[in-house]
Amino acid sequence: MAKLALCGGKPVRADPFPRYVTIGEEEKRAVMEVLDTGVLSGYLGTWSPQFYGGPRVRKLEREWEEYFGVRHAVSVNSATSGLYAAVGAAGVSPGDEVIVSPYTMTASATGALMYNAVPVFADIDPETFCITPETIRQVLSPRTKAIITVDLFGHPADFDGIMALAAEHNLVVIEDAAQAPGAQYHGRFAGTLAHIGVFSLNCHKTIQCGEGGVVVTNDDRFAERLQLIRNHGEVVVGNKGVDDISNLIGFNYRMTEVEAAIASEQLKKLERLLLPRIEAADFLRDRLKHLRGITPPVVRDCVRHGYYEFAIRYDAQALGVHRDRFVEALNAEGIPMYKGYMKPIYLEPMYQSRTGYGANGCPFTPPYYEGNVNYEKGICPVTERMYLEELMFTDLVHASLAAKDLEDVVTGIDKVLEHTHELQD
Ligand SMILES: Cc1ncc(COP(=O)(O)O)c(C=O)c1O
Repeated sequence: MAKLALCGGKPVRADPFPRYVTIGEEEKRAVMEVLDTGVLSGYLGTWSPQFYGGPRVRKLEREWEEYFGVRHAVSVNSATSGLYAAVGAAGVSPGDEVIVSPYTMTASATGALMYNAVPVFADIDPETFCITPETIRQVLSPRTKAIITVDLFGHPADFDGIMALAAEHNLVVIEDAAQAPGAQYHGRFAGTLAHIGVFSLNCHKTIQCGEGGVVVTNDDRFAERLQLIRNHGEVVVGNKGVDDISNLIGFNYRMTEVEAAIASEQLKKLERLLLPRIEAADFLRDRLKHLRGITPPVVRDCVRHGYYEFAIRYDAQALGVHRDRFVEALNAEGIPMYKGYMKPIYLEPMYQSRTGYGANGCPFTPPYYEGNVNYEKGICPVTERMYLEELMFTDLVHASLAAKDLEDVVTGIDKVLEHTHELQD
């Protein structure tokens, strides 16, 4: 095969790949209808009929409940807000510990800090990249109050085991399903597998409204607390007659009517946008699975993967070349491939220096917290290995790609694999 582009050869792909476009005439029409009303948000931050938002926000929530088969959907202006509200609703308090994955977008962990609690990191499974009942058990302590699982890249965590463990220790489980709308576990939707689930509608996700999120729960009390935290709860609890007002200091996590109208249209398309992802991923897996040194995503038998990203395991020993060099060569061939995903969260300066609020160690050190959380390098070896050596991923599984685009991905990987000897230096 021809010379590597990295060494001056012709790249496999000269043109950019198509962008993932989900917005069509339906969304444009829906937005114009909102603009024509002149009311872009229907919220009031007081105990009034508008406390729950405008007509499109409420419509979206009823549609979300029906689609996902849950009692309550609470829309918010991002999954970050949703995660923060979920931690507050769960009753997490100063000094508590919240177990979370270190291999995720940072907001999965910062919700704990918002309530002056301390994130404790459990390692991930090397195949699904999710935290597991076993790794959670290893970091449980009498201070543990909640677990936040992340369905990374769209693969749900092992919820049978995690919910059983949580029941044993009376813990609240929050499912960060930001990357997994439409994914399933034993036929149940990701996002609905824990006590509270959080979806993202940001512009990178399978369905989107620019910025937005939806929190779901089957628990009436959690739902009420989520609504209060979303919308200035402290001035509402009196008139509403809420008994337990802990953690009900409110924010403005409200979604606008414009975003809700777009999200409603996007929800209708979820299946149509997800099926091509699954087909594209199946195609790539089929073509890549026999290649030396490359392992396409593993999917557990009980799972329907959401394929937010297509994550590949790379074996540097088998190939004799570091992953980063391999990715560099692929990028030179015109194939977008990314190395490592997120840095293990505990290695970020905030955790390393234990600097949250103010400069005195709040909430990581006494008198705020009496435990002994460990953020040293090495605490989650699988995560660190994935980040530094083994994991690479691409978003080239989305619904706007054609068969030729997927062929180019395979050709690019094939070509670089055939030339790995040239990359050894
Ligand atoms: C796993 C995960 N959790 C949370 C978020 C936060 O989502 P948002 O951007 O809607 O706040 C993201 C966004 O990328 C994510 O991937």
